[in-house]
Amino acid sequence: MFTPANAPVDSSTGDAEPASETHRHPHPSRLFTIATLFGLSPLPVETARVLELGCGAGANLIPMAEVLPRATFIGIDLSAHQVARGHAQTEQLGLTNVDLRHANILDVDPSFGAFDYVLCHGVFSWVAPDVQEKIFDVCAKHLAPNGVAYVSYNTYPGWHMRGTIRDMMRYHAARFATTSAERAGAARALLDVLADVTRPDTGLCSTAVEIERTTVQRYGDAYLHYEHLGDVNEPLYFHRFVERASAHGLRYLAESRLGTMLTDFLDPAAERALKLTVGGDQIRTEQYIDFLRLRSVRETLLVHDSAAPDRHVRAGSLNRLHVASSAVPIGPVDPTARQEQQYRSASGAPLAISRPLLKTALEVLAAAWPATLPFGDLLAQSRERCRSTEPTGTDARELSAFVVDLFVRSDLVELFGAPVVACRAPSERPVASGAARICAGAGGQVVTRHHKCVQLPDLECRLLPLLDGTRDRAALAIALAAEVGAPTSGLDRALNDLARRALLVG
Ligand SMILES: C[S@@+](CC[C@H](N)C(=O)[O-])C[C@H]1O[C@@H](n2cnc3c(N)ncnc32)[C@H](O)[C@@H]1O
Repeated sequence: MFTPANAPVDSSTGDAEPASETHRHPHPSRLFTIATLFGLSPLPVETARVLELGCGAGANLIPMAEVLPRATFIGIDLSAHQVARGHAQTEQLGLTNVDLRHANILDVDPSFGAFDYVLCHGVFSWVAPDVQEKIFDVCAKHLAPNGVAYVSYNTYPGWHMRGTIRDMMRYHAARFATTSAERAGAARALLDVLADVTRPDTGLCSTAVEIERTTVQRYGDAYLHYEHLGDVNEPLYFHRFVERASAHGLRYLAESRLGTMLTDFLDPAAERALKLTVGGDQIRTEQYIDFLRLRSVRETLLVHDSAAPDRHVRAGSLNRLHVASSAVPIGPVDPTARQEQQYRSASGAPLAISRPLLKTALEVLAAAWPATLPFGDLLAQSRERCRSTEPTGTDARELSAFVVDLFVRSDLVELFGAPVVACRAPSERPVASGAARICAGAGGQVVTRHHKCVQLPDLECRLLPLLDGTRDRAALAIALAAEVGAPTSGLDRALNDLARRALLVG
């Protein structure tokens, strides 16, 4: 998904533009993490060269460039209007390590050089076959030897059903509407009618219609045009994607959402039956998972054919990674006691643990949040605090298995390829990250230092642009009152909330 409800409109055409959004999964830090977990040696994120194909207005690259000032980012996009919006933002933020270019993917040539990471989100399925082939070609020719590429695309079998609904919307919109806004309105109206008349007993797939209607309601017209009303939307099966990548000398590494590679959502008998049917082949296993889940979108990581990923995660691989956790305990914790303790993640995911080492580790991470800790420091601090008498290797194995499991299956633990610097408490003259200040000023969602989009409450949204390090609490109270139209008592609470959400750097 790539479009906010308030998607921009190209003033030259009046059409809703495909929006430029921040996405967590196509982030070099995540690509580094996954490649490292799978036994590869990806290049350091802090000094990486990163290329984004179809970067829109740079909503993905600009916050990355701010957080990783020694890395360099090049983004190309066909839309001059989007690129101009991106230039305005990079200038406003004074960023010199991000270069957004108005260019066609087809025109990427050797002068671009080599990249440690190549990202392509929300483009592949909506471009002509020659551009698709060029995306593979760029990944193959421009990835450094240990580089990792990310490509998202629509897949079958999920898009067989979604495509049926798309066809209906296109047919209807073309019959009744001429302008782009009218076409979007007609498509939405048809979905409403379909949802009203399709019930389980009609034989039509009411669930699929309802899911599509909910999605379309959540996103703006730009999404509707790009995903459903545009001429091109070419989903493909996962195995076909891998075959096509392979023809360019690229190998499947992993799915960016690692949990979707697992078969343990099946009951044990079904899992055994699947294993018997497909053997140990990773691609075939995942193709069957897609069949079972009626999957419609993938975010796939590719590496050079010469790379040999090992999908059995070893404790030692965690030593190159950084850990964060927003898990909060429910009730008082005694980390040294063996009794079970309940935790919740920021999104409400539950967890119950009783092992002292693991409870202590969550306590250490909570004290560091929103900053990250190197895995080695986390292990050392946790062992010391819970006075572990186990050999270091035993604790390292237990803690790494715990961390990886939570990272793969929940948002209770986050892993990063580079440290995330974010303030735990607001300073005397608080400073918010620049990219977040710009977004909040425009009234939209903001991007955290963890590269996550969050929608802020109104007061925090108004406060954020004021946090440029020039104002102390008294000056902030005056400026915020002017902004809100009345004095407010919520300043300290709002500042702490922004810190907790990883939005402050000072
Ligand atoms: C849906 S947007 C995705 C933008 C961004 N990657 C994101 O995920 O938010 C697709 C972008 O691809 C760009 N695009 C499409 N074909 C392209 C091409 N041949 N060369 C460069 N950019 C292209 C469009 O202009 C548009 O900005």
